[in-house]
Amino acid sequence: MRVRASLHRDFAISKIDDRLYSAFIEHMGRAIYSGIYEPGHPRADANGFRQDVLDMVRELDIPAIRYPGGNFVSAYRWEDGVGPRDQRPVRLDLAWRSKETNQVGINEFAQWADAAETEMMLAVNLGSRGLDDARNFAEYVNHPSGTHWSDLRRSHGVEQPYNVSMWCLGNEMDGPWQIGHKQAREYGRLADETAKALRQLTPGAEMIVCGSSNDEMPTYPEWEREVLEECYENVDYISLHKYFGNSSQDTLNFFGKIEETGRYIQTIAGVIDFVKTRKRARNDVYICFDEWNVWYHRREEDSRRWREWDWPEAPDLLEEDYNFEDALFVAGLLNEFIRRSDRVRIACIAQLVNVIAPIRAEKGGPAWRQTIYYPYQFASLHGRGTALNVSVDGPTYDCQVADDVNYLDAAAVHNEAQGTVTLFMVNRHLDEAAELDFDLAGFPKARVIGHKVMEGYGLRDTNGPDKPDAVAPRDGKGLGVEDGRVRGALAPLSYHLLRLDVS
Ligand code: AHR
Repeated sequence: MRVRASLHRDFAISKIDDRLYSAFIEHMGRAIYSGIYEPGHPRADANGFRQDVLDMVRELDIPAIRYPGGNFVSAYRWEDGVGPRDQRPVRLDLAWRSKETNQVGINEFAQWADAAETEMMLAVNLGSRGLDDARNFAEYVNHPSGTHWSDLRRSHGVEQPYNVSMWCLGNEMDGPWQIGHKQAREYGRLADETAKALRQLTPGAEMIVCGSSNDEMPTYPEWEREVLEECYENVDYISLHKYFGNSSQDTLNFFGKIEETGRYIQTIAGVIDFVKTRKRARNDVYICFDEWNVWYHRREEDSRRWREWDWPEAPDLLEEDYNFEDALFVAGLLNEFIRRSDRVRIACIAQLVNVIAPIRAEKGGPAWRQTIYYPYQFASLHGRGTALNVSVDGPTYDCQVADDVNYLDAAAVHNEAQGTVTLFMVNRHLDEAAELDFDLAGFPKARVIGHKVMEGYGLRDTNGPDKPDAVAPRDGKGLGVEDGRVRGALAPLSYHLLRLDVS
């Protein structure tokens, strides 16, 4: 198939917020325990952090990591996780029917985040608890000294405050499964008051209020309208979550869910604009897509398992094996975030290690990169700068969830400081190569400085401890630039990262 595409140096969508490439890690399954923290592991450091995992995390250059949940946070007592380890209580984690030993708490996580070279984005419990505990936690975390909670932190050996500037006001509060689930107005009021208190404590801190758990919730998008009507002026972001699957084994429909996500973002952007106008507000609220990923391979089996088990400690849970198809999907979804970066400022892959994660780590054994690690890494490393509008003129298809879906999925980022343009492209056609003619208007001297591809794998191919690099990027060939036009063929079902010097 022939595909014409074009961009123009001056047709920008938005400056991308680096935090578009953030991540999420929760106290659940083996994400924390035997994921990032496993004292006694041959690669653990003196603090018990796995260096093999840390190396892979650092290579992602993650701007911020959301912690400690997720559903877990809605019944979490943060005080259980501070102070001498041998005095910390073991508690029941009601969200995942597990035991929480509290051997990792905020101070250990902060230490790990520091080693991982990332910022913390903290969620407070607005399920079983409320404003008072949220402000105590924020005082422990952010106040310098001379008060009960800040001095308690200092007595735990942490002299300096962490100055955390991103606060999530609860988690998925629209979900009936959530401990302390609330009605929209009830939650909106609580979020408003909590945001005010937290901002009083840390002026300038950014507040993230819960939107819908997904776009199939019966309360979507009324939830967003009602919540924002209660708290618009005191928040900065509304969070969106969405997980994806391909149980019907319909690859093109699976890819079509990226279009569907675009509509989800557009709808919430519309609700934001509506509430802003209705309230005659001056501030802007953006979208924080703070949970997204593929989650279906073991979903049913796992939800059966955890409802029946007897409160295990750090059980194997949601350990999805990602395949090549998932990598192509993740590449496309990240492209959608780049294309929507005028409204989506923060996004978090959910999660980071073991639980629906790009990195897997066996207890006592090796760690490896899953297939989805690579498109996430490429977007994080090379997707910083200004998103440019890309127009694609080529064959399209209709599927159950969307019509007119382009076979070629493309996004472009201009990094003026580096003098580069990076193209992220997925040919989603099942069996036809894309003969590409891509006009780089305004960049007449563009030349290729890097080309990576993922192609030629079976859609169900995966990586694993015994085959860690079975699905991995390779150097690409066959794409060239002449007179400001990229020309060449993209194989069917292939992902391309094309880096261009435009200085
Ligand atoms: O990421 C797994 C779970 O998915 C989170 O705990 C919850 O917020 C969402 O439903």
